[in-house]
Amino acid sequence: MKTDKVVGLLIGVFFFFIGSINIYAAGEDSLSQVMQTMMIVTLVFVTCILFLTIVYSEKNDNEGKILLSPLSAFMKWLTKTTPIEKEQEIMFHHDFDGIKELDNKIPPWFNILFYGSIIWSVIYMFVFHIAGDGNIQVAEYQSEVQMASAEREILIKTGAFLNEETVTVLTDTPALSSGKDIYLKNCASCHGNNGEGTVGPNLTDDYWIHGGDIKSIFSTVKYGVPAKGMISWETQLDPKKMQEVASYIKSIHGTNPDNPKAQEGILYKETVEGN
Ligand code: HEC
Repeated sequence: MKTDKVVGLLIGVFFFFIGSINIYAAGEDSLSQVMQTMMIVTLVFVTCILFLTIVYSEKNDNEGKILLSPLSAFMKWLTKTTPIEKEQEIMFHHDFDGIKELDNKIPPWFNILFYGSIIWSVIYMFVFHIAGDGNIQVAEYQSEVQMASAEREILIKTGAFLNEETVTVLTDTPALSSGKDIYLKNCASCHGNNGEGTVGPNLTDDYWIHGGDIKSIFSTVKYGVPAKGMISWETQLDPKKMQEVASYIKSIHGTNPDNPKAQEGILYKETVEGN
């Protein structure tokens, strides 16, 4: 067989493989599986080309060109260009103000794409609309939704969706003990070790200046009351930590610590949900 036929055959096989993988993969969930197979096919293809290069270079001791000869044969095969010295033969016999026209062949690469896409469309139609259920979009959508909800779970865990509108009281021990640590480290200096209040107000009584529900407490912690000496913790504590410390404050309500600071603000009654 001549080089151009072999190369042509190889390219055909290559695209056939890529095509069948695509069809096969359309029903699969895992993208990495598809990529893996594509890579294997590409590797096989490259190996074949390399093999050809070596086989043909043995017949040709013209150094330098040896390795490139299959490639240039391939390019010639793909484009079927007429060499400049032979252009006279394919020249049209008309002339537009000195501009001449050549009767070039349609390059094979173009024909491959053109006829290939026609053949492809027939295969595609058959596979998706006649043999298959054509439900690829639904399947794709479902896997996207699955991925998105997995991402959402992670985001919820990191507290990315936590703000003063969505925050809820945590009551589990690890969260409260983490909240206590945060409190002792950052807040006790102004609110007292037990929340009895020193510089800042008493956090255990029924009276609140900025509201005693979890959302208000979270909001006060997040934005602070800078004018009154309560700083904003937004930049120092992530939302999860602010939720924990706010929940801890809720948990020490009514503990009546020693030396309580006098009540400030207005009476706040807990609602049923404990918010
Ligand atoms: C530098 C002192 C200081 C530190 C530190 C501090 N606070 Fe405050 N905090 C205050 C002051 C002062 C107020 C009263 C603000 C006002 O009068 O409006 C206050 C108010 C509050 C309120 C609102 C109380 C109410 O009655 O509505 C909450 C809740 C609160 N702080 C929580 C915290 C938490 C949680 C921390 C630690 C992460 C903290 N604070 C750290 C000084 C401080």
